[in-house]
Amino acid sequence: MPRKLVVANWKMHGNLSANRQLLEAYIQKLKPLENVDIVVCVPYPYLAQAQSLLAGTSIAWGAQNLSKDLVGAYTGEVSVGMLQDFGATHVIVGHSERATAYCESDENIATKFMQAKSHGLTPILCVGETLIEREAGVMEMVVAKQIDTIINTYGASMFANAVVAYEPIWAIGSGLAATPEQAQNMHEFIRGRIAAHDESAANSLKILYGGSVNSQNAVQLFVMQDIDGGLIGRGSLTAEEFEGICRAAN
Ligand code: PGA
Repeated sequence: MPRKLVVANWKMHGNLSANRQLLEAYIQKLKPLENVDIVVCVPYPYLAQAQSLLAGTSIAWGAQNLSKDLVGAYTGEVSVGMLQDFGATHVIVGHSERATAYCESDENIATKFMQAKSHGLTPILCVGETLIEREAGVMEMVVAKQIDTIINTYGASMFANAVVAYEPIWAIGSGLAATPEQAQNMHEFIRGRIAAHDESAANSLKILYGGSVNSQNAVQLFVMQDIDGGLIGRGSLTAEEFEGICRAAN
């Protein structure tokens, strides 16, 4: 069995003292789990704090976004090199909350993915459809377009050892997770889409499910063949709940 990966996405939550408590509880409760890697993606200002508290533990840290550019006059942006300065190993790319609220195009997202990958960070590419798209039966078309933009621009080998998170937009923060079968079908579709171009990249890729994962539904999702772990929003904000999810993956 390949190792599972569970990624906490704190979104815009936390402050110095709450983060310290939460990270210390993570460390205490999540003593190296044999079969699962754990990453916590914090808001930018707290990368230094994550680095100082998590260095030397089995928990890695990362960011929730990065600039598509490497350096220059880009007010408010944060480059891949800056993330690396603080020991980040992972970065979320194209989360739907950013894609909708900040109008990120598939092309921009593809460039960010390439920047992370080619500088040695593991990009976590978020893909997923809206409820309207699912009801119209075009969810695979929507997800294919998100994946294909990267394949067509940079090649399918970009996906080697990378991470894709399937996050149906209707499931994020709604309390209504996809069923294990709905998730499995899409994960299989994503892996197949990449395998058609590069089978070894598809096999080394981790595909996470995200959207209302909690300690109650995690096991049913994580046992599915193509579900390699989870991207966890709300469920990562309390140590007990996050522990339950990580243990389910383990
Ligand atoms: P959720 O968020 O677990 O709160 O649904 C997941 C995500 O947006 O990554």
